[in-house]
Amino acid sequence: MMLLGIETSCDETAAAVVQDGRLTLSSEIYSQIDIHKAYGGVVPEIASRNHTRKLPVIVKSAIDNAGLTMDDIDAVAVTAGPGLVGALLTGVAFAKGLAYANDKPLFKVNHIEGHICSNFLSHADLTPPMICLVVSGGHSHIVKVTDFGRYTLLGQTRDDAAGEAFDKVARVLGLPYPGGPNLERLAKEGDENAYSFPVPYRKESHLDFSFSGLKTAVINRLHQMDQKGEAYNKADVAASFQKNVVSVLADNTFEAAARENMDVVALAGGVSANGALRAAFEARARAKGVRLYLPNMAYCTDNAAMIASAAFFSQEKADLTLNADPSMTLNFEQENKK
Ligand code: KG4
Ligand code: ZN
Repeated sequence: MMLLGIETSCDETAAAVVQDGRLTLSSEIYSQIDIHKAYGGVVPEIASRNHTRKLPVIVKSAIDNAGLTMDDIDAVAVTAGPGLVGALLTGVAFAKGLAYANDKPLFKVNHIEGHICSNFLSHADLTPPMICLVVSGGHSHIVKVTDFGRYTLLGQTRDDAAGEAFDKVARVLGLPYPGGPNLERLAKEGDENAYSFPVPYRKESHLDFSFSGLKTAVINRLHQMDQKGEAYNKADVAASFQKNVVSVLADNTFEAAARENMDVVALAGGVSANGALRAAFEARARAKGVRLYLPNMAYCTDNAAMIASAAFFSQEKADLTLNADPSMTLNFEQENKK
């Protein structure tokens, strides 16, 4: 099945052609980072306008670069949520028009499910069950993937998402948008033991995260040092902050795998591009005898190949009444009430 995926949930305008959920024939991404950089973050209205401007070109390139025509496409898949409502709407409207004009079926995709499926694109042999940590700008979920399209939530953030914490601390360190990758770059030059920040919320009885305490502690410390005119090394602050985020993500994910008796773990979402996080997961997996799957770097941050893949595995058909749902949640089968 040849699926054309469309993704516009935030500031990437993306389209891709994927065969049978696994084989990427093309993946086009127009990043608006340079446009939003001037504002220090994504400006929703500007994102929507640029999606509208770029969608026709990006979708055409995806089809052309796959060596196909619209006749070869079996269905159109689009991110319906979660994300910025205006940005989502541009993709949903475009996908509906394209499907209708070409008489093709339409599939709706949950963006988080897309991130999980980036692992199926990256590893042809990977099949559920597995534990997947999804860490993006808006979400931090430990998900048990019991089968294709079937999920149980084992833990989640109680406040900030991991990516959000990276972005906020990066901003206070004076780093440009997007904060996460820039903070990681700076942290490479720093000493991760230079500062002792609080370890994010971790209680034996549950697997939830909380990053707001750590984020506030780092920001307060920076303000205090600034007020006192104290010299400090920003790279040391970045490295010390990153160490704590990485360790709690790894602790909780591998604890989830142990509790669920699962020996397959995967990572997904924008923060899965973080080298320190990938290295920590590799070390834990080796120590615990767990098989670890990391998404290819091209599929960590937002892209449309993961959306086409998720549509193939979840098969959620939609019609022309499809609307954007900015707070769409994954369809969890049972939530961890602990
Ligand atoms: O999945 P994604 O592209 O968009 C959302 O669905 O949110 O994730 C973006 C998030 C941002 O918060 C960004 O700062 C973070 O992922 N991120 C990183 C890295 N690359 C992206 N955080 C830490 N280290 C990175 N290398
Ligand atoms: Zn994302």
